[in-house]
Amino acid sequence: MDGTVRIYEVGPRDGLQNERGVIPVADKVRLVSALMRAGLSDIEVGSFVSPKWVPQMADTPEVLSRLDYSGGHNFATLVPNMKGWDGFLAATAGLPRIPGEVAVFISASEGFSKANLNCSIAESIERAAPVVAAAIDRGVVVRGYVSCVTDCPFDGQVPPEAVAQAVAALRALAPMQVSLGDTIGHGTPDRVARMIDAVSDVAPVDALAGHFHDTGGRALANVEAALQAGVRCFDSAVGGLGGCPYAPGAPGNLGTEALVARLEDLGISTGLDQAALAEAGRLAKTMRAQA
Ligand code: HMG
Ligand code: MG
Repeated sequence: MDGTVRIYEVGPRDGLQNERGVIPVADKVRLVSALMRAGLSDIEVGSFVSPKWVPQMADTPEVLSRLDYSGGHNFATLVPNMKGWDGFLAATAGLPRIPGEVAVFISASEGFSKANLNCSIAESIERAAPVVAAAIDRGVVVRGYVSCVTDCPFDGQVPPEAVAQAVAALRALAPMQVSLGDTIGHGTPDRVARMIDAVSDVAPVDALAGHFHDTGGRALANVEAALQAGVRCFDSAVGGLGGCPYAPGAPGNLGTEALVARLEDLGISTGLDQAALAEAGRLAKTMRAQA
């Protein structure tokens, strides 16, 4: 298979947000450093969301304050609304540079939108819009997520047209990359292919990323379906950490180690150091065991 693939590491956010306990800041920083040693450039490190909803991410400002900014890494964070944007601005004011991308996130299904963001899809887009505008104004790159791109834990199967509508709504705000989240890992390769086909009517495929949870053990097969459709960016979490606290039945992200191994098997070079990645995976698993 041709081309290069960008791997977007989401373990420190999508992984650790789902741990029962709060991981100490020093451990989070150690994990991010281990991921950097493995050669990852895009690392999602936290969220500016309500600490009442996701206490595991409340220390994101401290994590950001302790990272090494000398290597030009993209340390991305989630920002759902203007309160979160204010938090991002306050946390990043004293840093050597803007840490990285901010991600706004919506759902393709109403049930998950309500459970995850406490509002309808339309309201979530209204909340994201000023965040996108403020970020662009500051020169911060914006990324978008659409959750439940094949199945919703509350509403069942999600029609591809609903996903296309959600992607179009985000890209009407700005021409951002949109990551397509199979939040509960119920997707199958054929449904993933149909969903991407519908989405490619509203967004170029090179602006899409795949974010497959591995609940059903099909994340790698879904990656391959997305690769066939032309997607060249994938989210994964070292050690297969994570899930989503508001998505019952979403225990694990696709492991970065498994993703890299499969891509290399397919002849796609990732440029990552697999031994260093395995070391980061061991660290992630130790942290999980202690949480
Ligand atoms: P809300 O209760 O509707 O918000 O929550 P509100 O505006 O009514 O405010 C209520 C309280 O929250 C107020 O505080 C606000 O100040 C505070 P109080 O007066 O009660 O003390 N508040 C905030 N505090 C900190 N940061 C903020 C913020 N906003 C309001 N940004 C809200 C709305 C979005 C905040 C809430 O629903 C929330 O935090 N949800 C958590 C969402 C989340 O982080 N989910 C997990 C990440 S998404 C995911 O994992 C999926 C993904 O991986 C892709 C995939 O797999 O599909 C990305
Ligand atoms: Mg996720």
